[in-house]
Amino acid sequence: MLMKIAILTFILFFYTAFLSKDKGKLEKATGHVFDSAQQHYQNMLRVSKDLTKYPRTSAPNGSLKYTDIHDWTGGFWPGSLWYLYEYTKDPQWLEAAKRWTESLEKNQFNNTHHDIGFMMYCSYGNGYRLTGDPKYRDVLLQSAKTLITRFNPTVGCIKSWDQKLSWDGKTMFKYPVIIDNMINLELLFFASKETGDPVYRNIALQHADNTLKNHFRPDYSSYHVVNYDAATGKVLHQETNQGFADNSTWARGQGWAIYGFTVMYRETKDNKYLQAARKMADYYLDNKNLPDDKVPYWDFNVNQPGFTPKWKYDAAKLSYIPRDASAAAVVSSALVELSQHLGSKGGKYRRAAQHILTSLSSEAYLAKPGTNNNFLLKHSVGSMPHGVEIDVPLVYADYYFLEALLRNKKS
Ligand code: GLY
Repeated sequence: MLMKIAILTFILFFYTAFLSKDKGKLEKATGHVFDSAQQHYQNMLRVSKDLTKYPRTSAPNGSLKYTDIHDWTGGFWPGSLWYLYEYTKDPQWLEAAKRWTESLEKNQFNNTHHDIGFMMYCSYGNGYRLTGDPKYRDVLLQSAKTLITRFNPTVGCIKSWDQKLSWDGKTMFKYPVIIDNMINLELLFFASKETGDPVYRNIALQHADNTLKNHFRPDYSSYHVVNYDAATGKVLHQETNQGFADNSTWARGQGWAIYGFTVMYRETKDNKYLQAARKMADYYLDNKNLPDDKVPYWDFNVNQPGFTPKWKYDAAKLSYIPRDASAAAVVSSALVELSQHLGSKGGKYRRAAQHILTSLSSEAYLAKPGTNNNFLLKHSVGSMPHGVEIDVPLVYADYYFLEALLRNKKS
């Protein structure tokens, strides 16, 4: 008996020492990443003065590529500045974050797509959380009002895009809903909590429940696009827009799923969302095609038998399958939170998050200041089927990476 206790104590001692060594390593890496971020973003601010042009990625000719304020990625640059301010408490980042947030103001009325949650909650949402400025609250509430104009109660989902042609060119999707849309729901929970009006929250619940029903296969891998019949609510198509094939699992899409259903649990405490998020995370983490550093290929099923792209795919065009650091960043942030909700059952997810963050903090992914067009992370993929943003920096990879590091630091 005594022998058993001694052995167990010995194992526990080394396990704890091993974990705290890992934690210490990541704490050091976090400091290094935020130091690098300060240098990168000082450079970014120096070259980016026009508040109507938002940094997004690198162009094929190697230059810094911007988008206008209507694009879905507009909130990530100010959001990253907010995270830098949160970490450093340096007023220069506060000033920059405010400036780049407030120039998005017109988007509170942007009803042309579903992405208003991404745009406004990452910018104004973080701004309101960190400053309590009531002007930011007003903008967020109007943004939530705008978002729910895209909700059709017969379908029970918020429409993502007004329409989209399928890759085989045969079908115009009239009510496409994409898995990414889960990220817009956080704004709706915020609006209900702030106003006391349940309308926003109820829409978020219906959207999430229908997404859970129609966007997932039995193994909790996700379809990217579900197209509905707006008159009956019937599911007409389950296809892809940014993934390899209709039946494949686009890595960032799976990331949006894990993140979105983790938020659903946070906001409702309904165990069905926690279990769903966990199974979606298990699909990702236990996947035989996930590389050892846990930064996924851009889709889990590239070049595998049984997965046939409908877009013009030429396997010979690239000698390798690109990774998607942005998917890894989204997943790491979601897993830090998921592990907290799971308490004593969260170890697997916390360790995985720390593993991903350690990979992303290494030279393989973290760019040296003065390179990478002033973005932090290298090696992301925007959309392979569209042939754009392949193995490049992406502003949202940086945003979720910084968020994950901050979340991990606070945990
Ligand atoms: N929401 C678009 C994307 O993830 O690329």
